[in-house]
Amino acid sequence: MAKTKSIYFCQNCGNQSPKWIGKCPVCGEWNTYVEEVIDKDVEKLKEKRNPSAKKNEENKPIPVKDVHDIEMRRLDTLDTELNRVLGGGIVPGSLVLIGGEPGIGKSTLMLQLALQLKGVKVLYVTGEESDQQIKLRAERIGIKNEQCFILTETNIQQIFKQTEALAPDVIIIDSIQTLNTVYVESPAGSVSQVRECTAELQRYSKETSIPIFLIGHITKDGMIAGPKVLEHIVDTVLQFEGDRNYTYRILRTTKNRFGSTSEIGIYEMLGDGLRPVLNPSEILLTQREDDLSGIAIACMMEGMRPFLIETQALVTPAFYGTPQRSSTGFDVRRMNMLLAVLEKRAGFRFGTKDVFLNIAGGLRVEDPAIDLAVISALTSSYNDMPVPSKIAFSAEVGLSGEVRAVSRIDQRISEADKLGFEKIFISKFNQKIDTKKLNIEVVTISRVQQLMEELFG
Ligand code: TYD
Ligand code: MG
Repeated sequence: MAKTKSIYFCQNCGNQSPKWIGKCPVCGEWNTYVEEVIDKDVEKLKEKRNPSAKKNEENKPIPVKDVHDIEMRRLDTLDTELNRVLGGGIVPGSLVLIGGEPGIGKSTLMLQLALQLKGVKVLYVTGEESDQQIKLRAERIGIKNEQCFILTETNIQQIFKQTEALAPDVIIIDSIQTLNTVYVESPAGSVSQVRECTAELQRYSKETSIPIFLIGHITKDGMIAGPKVLEHIVDTVLQFEGDRNYTYRILRTTKNRFGSTSEIGIYEMLGDGLRPVLNPSEILLTQREDDLSGIAIACMMEGMRPFLIETQALVTPAFYGTPQRSSTGFDVRRMNMLLAVLEKRAGFRFGTKDVFLNIAGGLRVEDPAIDLAVISALTSSYNDMPVPSKIAFSAEVGLSGEVRAVSRIDQRISEADKLGFEKIFISKFNQKIDTKKLNIEVVTISRVQQLMEELFG
């Protein structure tokens, strides 16, 4: 009879304990320990199977210049956005985790990649949907590729068997939470299963140099379901985010062993799949004929990319008791702070007003450079005086009403210039910039009051 033992795993951080405990000593979370059964005979088997443990071969140090260069062999995904977030293409033998909320478009993105890759064999392993469902989706995306194979399987040993027969160049797993390995008895999706399957895939990809993409679900609080250790095992973690009610999606690199983590990719979800958005500013600026009050355009950065985005504010008298403060896409506490600055430094009276703020496109903006546009939108609505639509803003606002410098101002200005803006307000403290080649007028200011005079006289 197989000897089994149970181990308790923290569902949050993956820590193990021989007995149940209420509070995890490692991550400090309460009530996260869950019992999982582990087969002891299999543990030994596992050690044997692990080639690095099998032979205690000595690894000799080699000069770094003699190590193979991986940059040369990156596989082009034919998707500008995906290439960008991966750091220039798919690295052989890499394990990439794609996290995101249900319904955001992870399966669509990966199937599109599988269909798009030309001249390589791709295996799409699905444990979530049937092959007919995948077929339907593939028809929707509308790309034909004879080299794309679908496998409905959840057992990892079976998957390896099939990959040996098929010899694909790229493997996609949808999703890691549906996989199971014979070496762990607990159900699919449990911490030990997820961790063991990921470790096996990592070993497999390193041994065979086949890049593997893993889709992972996200828990309510925004973490990739399964322990944090999952993120340590894989080489790259990509987060697919966006509001399900809007069509824009952002693919963000949160970890990358082969490139920068400040890259983002932007997509639009259409009826026939995801379309890479090459010029995000154009879609985030609404087309309008007249100048309306309460609208100001901010020039912000997401990762390394500048784009222009519309901030909209509505300030109305509050009739029902406590005035309302509400904000979408922008931190409401920061909005309150900006309101207090306007109140104290520029003589506005927001105390009896309802204030609503909205960032267009369903995006969440954390770049402080949007402050100046928020202030302009708020005061424009308060005064009911429009800000001319060809004006952009890019600066942070401090507590004493000072207008502060922001990073990469040149890129921001040239983006606004490229899109035909006529004037941009920036901080006086931003370094000298060369405006000779630009058509846009750059106005530098140091205080909020100064901006109010410039805008509303
Ligand atoms: P899906 O890839 O199934 O999400 P996930 O795998 O992250 O759960 O995407 C589901 C949504 O995308 C679904 O609501 C339908 C929509 N969709 C489109 O709008 N256009 C398309 O071409 C496809 C395939 C899906
Ligand atoms: Mg899916």
